[in-house]
Amino acid sequence: MVKLHADGMANWEISGGVTEFIAAHCDAGTSSLETGAGVSTLAFAAAGARHTAVTPSADEIARIRAEAAERGIEMSGVTFVEGFSQNVLPSLTGPLDIVLIDGGHGFPIPAVDWTYAAARLTVGGYCLVDDIDIWTGQMLVQFMDEEDEWERVAIIRNRTAIFRLVKPFVLREWRHQRSVVAKSKFPRTLRRAKNAVGLIARGDLVALRHKFTHDRELSRSAKRDG
Ligand SMILES: C[S@@+](CC[C@H](N)C(=O)[O-])C[C@H]1O[C@@H](n2cnc3c(N)ncnc32)[C@H](O)[C@@H]1O
Repeated sequence: MVKLHADGMANWEISGGVTEFIAAHCDAGTSSLETGAGVSTLAFAAAGARHTAVTPSADEIARIRAEAAERGIEMSGVTFVEGFSQNVLPSLTGPLDIVLIDGGHGFPIPAVDWTYAAARLTVGGYCLVDDIDIWTGQMLVQFMDEEDEWERVAIIRNRTAIFRLVKPFVLREWRHQRSVVAKSKFPRTLRRAKNAVGLIARGDLVALRHKFTHDRELSRSAKRDG
């Protein structure tokens, strides 16, 4: 097992099923992007994709190039961008057919990667999110599962989610995002109830009536907006 990460001390590679998916869905006409780099980069290169890999580690880049040479994998279609994805992605442009999010896993990096990378996907393109057992990846799965733009294709080994973009990518306000509305419902109801109890305890019935009117108007305007 080749150790491409942590100065050659670790191997954090994607699972075999993901490598197979890349091989089956990429060819010389494919534009792809990944955050992070490693065996996945070799898989995109071997498939012949025009591929960009974003990693802050010059050491990884050197090791991946050496490994490709060892295995006879052509790397002329691969561009490495050395840097943190959150700094680099905003300046990268162009349509993409497949995106692998597997760079930084701390909050909010996967969501930042998704915002800039998935936004460049053409309709029919694929978004792969690795390490979905980590909450920052799980959040993306829960979100895409609820939105009309995304169709879940597969979950590989409970670790990597594959989604296809079936409508043009769009970022909506939270009221129009099903998973955000659903996850916010209880905290918002609780907040209203706590505030109402506080007003009752203080005997401030004028403020209580004002609050109910205000809340009713808010929910009416939310329904009007769709
Ligand atoms: C889990 S490994 C990627 C494994 C790779 N997909 C493979 O198949 O071997 C995580 C990668 O993200 C990189 N990384 C960490 N923080 C990053 C960031 N903020 N932006 C981009 N890459 C980052 C690491 O250097 C490492 O290459």
